Amino acid sequence: MIPPEIKEEIKYRCDIVDVISGYVPLKRAGSNYNGLCPFHSERTPSFTVFPSTKSFYCFGCGAGGDVVTFMMKRENLDYRSALELLANRAGIALPPDEKNETPVGTVKRERVLNMNREAAKFFHSCLYSPVGAAGLAYLTRRGLTGATIKHFGLGFAPDGFGALTDFLQKRGYTAEEMSAAFLCGISKKSGRPFDYFRNRVIFPIIDVTGNVIAFGGRVMDDSVPKYLNTSDTPAFKKSRNLFALNFAKSSCSERMILCEGYMDVIACHAHGFENAVATLGTAITPDQARIMSKYTKQVVISYDSDEAGQKATAKAMRLLGEVGLDVRVLRIPGAKDPDEFLNKNGSSANEKFRLLLDQSRAGFEFRLESVLSKHDITKVDEKIKAAEELCRIISEVWSESEREVYIGVVSEKLGIPKESLAGDIKRMIRSRDRSEKNEEFGEIVRKTAGFGDRINQDTVKNAAAVSAEENILGIMMLFPENIGAVKSGRIKLSPDDFYSDFNRRVFEEIMERCDGSRLFDYGDLAEDFNPDEMGRITSMIERRRPLTANGEDVLSDMIERLRAEKAQKRFSEAGDTRSAIEDILARQREKLKKR
Ligand code: UTP
Ligand code: MN
Repeated sequence: MIPPEIKEEIKYRCDIVDVISGYVPLKRAGSNYNGLCPFHSERTPSFTVFPSTKSFYCFGCGAGGDVVTFMMKRENLDYRSALELLANRAGIALPPDEKNETPVGTVKRERVLNMNREAAKFFHSCLYSPVGAAGLAYLTRRGLTGATIKHFGLGFAPDGFGALTDFLQKRGYTAEEMSAAFLCGISKKSGRPFDYFRNRVIFPIIDVTGNVIAFGGRVMDDSVPKYLNTSDTPAFKKSRNLFALNFAKSSCSERMILCEGYMDVIACHAHGFENAVATLGTAITPDQARIMSKYTKQVVISYDSDEAGQKATAKAMRLLGEVGLDVRVLRIPGAKDPDEFLNKNGSSANEKFRLLLDQSRAGFEFRLESVLSKHDITKVDEKIKAAEELCRIISEVWSESEREVYIGVVSEKLGIPKESLAGDIKRMIRSRDRSEKNEEFGEIVRKTAGFGDRINQDTVKNAAAVSAEENILGIMMLFPENIGAVKSGRIKLSPDDFYSDFNRRVFEEIMERCDGSRLFDYGDLAEDFNPDEMGRITSMIERRRPLTANGEDVLSDMIERLRAEKAQKRFSEAGDTRSAIEDILARQREKLKKR
């Protein structure tokens, strides 16, 4: 346990506006700050920081909490690590983590990282032992030198079910921990753990601080799946990491090369292009785009030349452009990917690849060319099609001045007045913004109405009771004197009054943490609730904040309503859900109007 006065000190010194400004450009709006949410993709800012309560909340995706929750969510850390990071920033020393206590049912990030490190060493040593001969031969055949293999810490997972599992068990790791780290599966029949990676060459994924966070494993023949990858674990979020960023981060300030695969990145690095990274087996995510924009100015997309690669290129262009990067696209003649190109060109590979990089076309030129090559613009209808496609492409460009330039180019190429093109583009942007809003909006309705509510699973059974509970908790947290009223018994409310398990837990934690001797700080709940749950808790506060009536009388009213709803024990009556949705819709409309 970290003493509360230290936590207070850290939060006092790490001003939430300062900290979040390091990740998100914030604009002052009255007494608050607004910006584009770092947790979901949006064009109009719904992410708000409230200096008065030292909290943030996104009205779009429901992320919220205090500065510690922000760090947990943004940097994918557990509570203690997030606090540690902030403590370092503030120059405060934390007392040592005494027992490293692992609560039952959850495996800690530190534990997973230690296990991964052991596993990486194990895989690497296997590669250089007789069991790994096939792996070493495979990597050598693909052109990797011993130095490159060591640099990337490549390894080999032996064939068989217990090689790694036994090794880790001997070192004190439990099956539960290994399975949480995605290093083993648990046999349904015997209940015993078995190795997840078998008979594959192993690519460890290392984050920018040097932790081994995940693995990719490739087969050595044509069997499928070609690659197995670690899924999300307590130490790893696929959508927020890039392969080889740990190396690339020190040589990419001007330009970064974005590849599709592990082998492409490795080939690039081996040939001296140490600014290459790859996404991890999935299409690029908005998070990854944002991360790249923190490290570099220009990204050269070097995806495969096949159809899938080209589709992924279009998406990457859009996401990277949206975060303000100068995006270029590489065309590799005579090879399907950088790995093949570099291996094919022998001693001149380096020079040839550098030339390609320098000739890489700006994203727009690349797309302009491919649209023009598809349509015969001497024919009227073809010309209209081409114009429409190009307008759509331009409408995705984030910067207005950049759009102006492209409009000029297209106007000249197609002989269409700039004004007409600009008008079409404006319309496209507006209609997309609207549909994005609707999408966001639908998401809120779904969440709050309880369809697929992962945080509070009881919502679907009695939305009205849960909504009353959220009002109660919101009032209590927003005005902690109400907590005092409950503590003193002036207002009668006990855990048994709660309908949903989640809200009961929130209530119990609040009561436990508020001993009357110090101010209640709702952010401390992050010790017991994960960042998604913290978002829900913050939303309870934010929903009450604009309302003037948050006193004891309203609290008592809500408690009565909760009791009445609970007594009825309704189970997903249509009317029930509908009224909840209508309620939310009305509130949302109100909010949009105010904006
Ligand atoms: P590719 O199929 O293009 O493979 O997948 P590659 O990188 O060129 O690999 P080699 O050269 O055949 O060895 C590109 C990337 O997509 C992910 C991996 O990250 C791979 O590097 N991928 C691919 C998977 O995660 N799983 C798969 O089954 C296939
Ligand atoms: Mn390849």
